[in-house]
Amino acid sequence: MQKANHMHTSKRILVVGSGGREHALAWKLTKDGADVFVAPGNAGTARQATNLPINASDTNAILAAVTEHNIDLVVVGPEAPLVGGLVDALTAAGIRAFGPTAQAAQLEGSKIFCKDVLHTNDIPTATYRQFRSFEQARQFLEDREDEPVVIKADGLAAGKGVFVCGGRDDAIAAVEQLRCDPQFQTAASGILIEERLDGVEVSVIAITDGRTIVTLPPLQDHKAAHDGDQGPNTGGMGAFCPAPFVDDALLAEIEERILVPTIHGMRRRRTPFHGVLYAGLMLTAQGPKVLEYNVRFGDPECQALLVRLESSLVELLDAAVDCRLETLAPPRWNDGASVTVVMASEGYPGPVAKGQPIRGLEQVAALDDVAVFHAATTPASDSPDTVLASGGRVLAVTATGQSLARAKQRAYEGVKEIRWQGAWCRKDIADKGLRHQRELAASEASSAATGTPHPAEGTP
Ligand code: AMP
Ligand code: GLY
Repeated sequence: MQKANHMHTSKRILVVGSGGREHALAWKLTKDGADVFVAPGNAGTARQATNLPINASDTNAILAAVTEHNIDLVVVGPEAPLVGGLVDALTAAGIRAFGPTAQAAQLEGSKIFCKDVLHTNDIPTATYRQFRSFEQARQFLEDREDEPVVIKADGLAAGKGVFVCGGRDDAIAAVEQLRCDPQFQTAASGILIEERLDGVEVSVIAITDGRTIVTLPPLQDHKAAHDGDQGPNTGGMGAFCPAPFVDDALLAEIEERILVPTIHGMRRRRTPFHGVLYAGLMLTAQGPKVLEYNVRFGDPECQALLVRLESSLVELLDAAVDCRLETLAPPRWNDGASVTVVMASEGYPGPVAKGQPIRGLEQVAALDDVAVFHAATTPASDSPDTVLASGGRVLAVTATGQSLARAKQRAYEGVKEIRWQGAWCRKDIADKGLRHQRELAASEASSAATGTPHPAEGTP
């Protein structure tokens, strides 16, 4: 086996995963000067980095690849290998890995664990009850007042274990669906019934070494399949950054009341958290409340973030792994905004046709400010230059711009260049942010016109 190539001075980084998030990570780490490998990657990562034909869940093969390719740092993209203990296995083998241990990853892996951490540390979240049987959950619903609730199955369910319900009948139907669906028999070892919160949803993502947090700009994703947030839940059809609903004061409050107590709470329960802490938040009339935690970058949130990151991601991840975030200068972001539009195959989020050739990738590559991150693509076996769609979410077309409006325009200009049979996307990514900006501008204009004092001017 060939060992270390001592002529090499650049960092050698292995990204684990195969989606748009991993393509964006590989793209940025390569831009920062690292030598990047992706396991297993896709047709997009193959153009930027070296794909290794290794499944993200094959810990032994990943350990072997780290030795073979003399890897300095492993970055784990998806939640399943984190919950499965990949970082524990790498760390035990003396390999530097970015991401939480299996125990800390329970913050995403078990909604009941997450609620317990939130509750113990007085972190704002929806009130909840937990049940170990479908019968108890049903009985509780029948006995209580008829109010909107959310039913959640414990455990990873790829975003499918959550039912936002109008009232009692809806909620009982959701519990019955969990009871009958074989897909939920393992995930639903516990059931949560939560108060349904109202407000605007935002995502705040931080990188942490277990002591210090580096909070990244707030974003909003688009979980519903269709325009106007209609249709079934998906992995995410788009994102924009920054989310104008969160100003600096609110971001500071989210850090202070939510992120920091979570990190401290995790340390106190001897499951210190390292890696990406992703808070899914509802901005309610009583302030921000946690809907859920993820223990990794969101997909496609990661794509919208990384195109705005001007400083080095290699340095940021290195500092997190070496527990010296405290000494690192804050990351630098471009002044403008970014928008990611996911292009999906016909049928998504249900079963999809695969193998359609994608056209227009060369044309879109020529557009300034537009990057196309591949999510589910493979090279055609008979013609490696031809890229085929190989899953539900296929591409994440991502643009930057001086303003959110400009970034949206550029992203959809990119989308227009790309075609395959059955391709579709949401047409309204970022519209909620744009509407909010217009409302803010209108209220500022009207207070200027009526002479209403600006809050900063105060009243006598
Ligand atoms: P989760 O996987 O826990 O983030 O839930 C998926 C989606 O369900 C969230 O993005 C919200 O839109 C919605 N949701 C989850 N919990 C609540 C809640 N307590 N109140 C209202 N909506 C919720
Ligand atoms: N886009 C939502 C997620 O990655 O969980």
